Amino acid sequence: MRPAPTLPDAQTVTEVEHYTDRLFRFRVTRPKSLRFRSGEFVMIGLMGDNGKPLLRAYSIASPSWDEELEFYSIKVPDGPLTSKLQHIKAGDQIILRPKPVGTLVLDALLPGKRLWFFATGTGIAPFASLMRDPDTYERYDEVIMMHCCRDAAELEYGRQLVESLPEDPLIGEFIGDKLKYYPTTTRDDFANKGRITTNLTSGKVFTDLGLGIDRLDPETDRGMVCGSLAFNIDMKEVLEGYGLREGANSDPAEYVVEKAFVD
Ligand SMILES: Cc1cc2nc3c(=O)[nH]c(=O)nc-3n(C[C@H](O)[C@H](O)[C@H](O)COP(=O)(O)OP(=O)(O)OC[C@H]3O[C@@H](n4cnc5c(N)ncnc54)[C@H](O)[C@@H]3O)c2cc1C
Ligand SMILES: NC(=O)c1ccc[n+]([C@@H]2O[C@H](COP(=O)([O-])OP(=O)(O)OC[C@H]3O[C@@H](n4cnc5c(N)ncnc54)[C@H](OP(=O)(O)O)[C@@H]3O)[C@@H](O)[C@H]2O)c1
Repeated sequence: MRPAPTLPDAQTVTEVEHYTDRLFRFRVTRPKSLRFRSGEFVMIGLMGDNGKPLLRAYSIASPSWDEELEFYSIKVPDGPLTSKLQHIKAGDQIILRPKPVGTLVLDALLPGKRLWFFATGTGIAPFASLMRDPDTYERYDEVIMMHCCRDAAELEYGRQLVESLPEDPLIGEFIGDKLKYYPTTTRDDFANKGRITTNLTSGKVFTDLGLGIDRLDPETDRGMVCGSLAFNIDMKEVLEGYGLREGANSDPAEYVVEKAFVD
């Protein structure tokens, strides 16, 4: 039997997995009333030392059909929340405000042929949700996940997830061969190197994936961007250089952007 909630909006941690000394993922119970669109974020946290909730924005990394909720998290050594959150274990409780919001949703994009996910670091979290949503593959013929981190250990969460998807009993048949994965690093000896912006503007990613294109086309290509502020700014410039326009829930267009964290 689950322990009685002692926190406001309490949910129980069901699983925790650590990848590096900076990154971990965890799963929690899902409030019965919580409906969200893949790609959205919620406020989660713990009770602070002052007796008030200490909350931060977190992308939901699990798909909307999942019975539980998954989160993929940084561990900031002196971060008010994550210096504590990194120590949670199964059976502990966290606070989860059930009000999902965000711009990285399929509804904010016009229909197209090819959907690009561009992420640095923990910015892969919303795409971990969208990559597991059948709607993604119903709307697009090709889905390309570009993820860039400083070193290979930081790619591990995404790599394990992507590699598990074709065999997944629930989502595998929707994915077929539509999902292409392009992980890169910038500071170690990984096979595939370079910033996302560089691999787009040089055309390397198009050649390496054998896409038969030499640029993104606003008629067919759609993009979703999630990373640091500097990355988001540079990506906007690259995408607008191809003629893509920024969309929103109320005004769908060719690409959308969200911060993975506040610098
Ligand atoms: C829309 C949105 C969605 C977010 N989704 C996630 C998510 O899914 N997973 C996640 O780990 N964080 C996410 N964040 C960041 C998160 O809200 C917190 O900042 C993070 O949990 C650290 O909290 P903290 O209190 O320990 O430190 P904070 O005081 O919040 O941050 C301290 C410093 O750590 C750095 N930092 C914070 N978060 C990150 C990060 N994710 N990656 C790299 N450096 C970081 C920044 O330099 C920041 O100034 C999101 C932020 C926004 C705005
Ligand atoms: N990752 C770590 O091992 C580490 C360790 C301790 C502290 N930190 C701190 O944590 C914060 C976040 O680090 P992070 O590694 O998660 O994120 P990050 O510094 O944004 O880097 C993540 C990836 O994005 C690339 N990138 C950064 N800016 C870009 C831009 N404008 N355009 C295209 N690509 C860009 C980086 O390439 P480049 O390598 O070319 O910049 C890197 O491969 C930073 O303040 C950092 O100092 C990180």
